[in-house]
Amino acid sequence: MPDSLHVKVFRFNPDRDVEPRFDNFEVPVFDNMALLDVVMHIQNCLDRSLSFRFSCRIGMCGSCAMYVNGRARLVCRTQVSSLRTQDITIMPLPNFPIIRDLVVDMAPFFEKWKKIKPYYVSNKEISEPVVVRPGSGEREIIDDMLDCITCGCCYSACSMVATNSEYLGPAALNRAYTLIADKRDAIRVERLKTVDRSYGVWRCHTQFNCAEVCPKNIVPTRSIQNLKRRCVLHKFGIVK
Ligand code: SF4
Ligand code: SF4
Ligand code: FES
Repeated sequence: MPDSLHVKVFRFNPDRDVEPRFDNFEVPVFDNMALLDVVMHIQNCLDRSLSFRFSCRIGMCGSCAMYVNGRARLVCRTQVSSLRTQDITIMPLPNFPIIRDLVVDMAPFFEKWKKIKPYYVSNKEISEPVVVRPGSGEREIIDDMLDCITCGCCYSACSMVATNSEYLGPAALNRAYTLIADKRDAIRVERLKTVDRSYGVWRCHTQFNCAEVCPKNIVPTRSIQNLKRRCVLHKFGIVK
């Protein structure tokens, strides 16, 4: 690794700026440096007014996603060395309104998340707790999809979100699938109706942009394809 990085950072303060700009910084490199260390160095030592969001620093809270060198990433989990360049450009996530600098407004994302009722609703006929064994087929079909940390990376990479503000987007649809695939859930039909719309699963063009950037290796496209199949089978009365 080189001794220092040339870092270009997107800046915009709506209270003061007429339009956005990029500021350039020289940042010293240290071993095992993450991109979060880069923005923290800038804020601590070079420009205290830089705004960005983070919390856990271990890839769990989903709050530090940014668009770095052309790709959405969790900055706390991205090593500088993995970029293989001295030149780094840091921008806010695309497809979100900008609050300030690298901080985006997640409200549109969570409005859509809320639309699919992202929580389990128990069926009164089933006495809890109902055991779903980790190794069971029922559990296996959703296992990989349960780790979503609502970071918004997939949403920012989705060209259908970019062109249709109503589209529910990959994260909400992935979450809907994990609930619809759970046979204990009491509102599966209601959930299917929510996703079986032109701004639901049918808007997805199966291009896998979402899967490419997910830091948890979730493939929302697969969940969406499974939902499409369920919607059709439900229409024909083959599944409830
Ligand atoms: S596969 Fe579907 S949800 Fe994923 S990025 Fe493409 S259009 Fe969006
Ligand atoms: S599916 Fe992946 S990229 Fe999308 S919000 Fe969840 S963790 Fe982030
Ligand atoms: S700071 Fe929590 S995921 Fe990066």
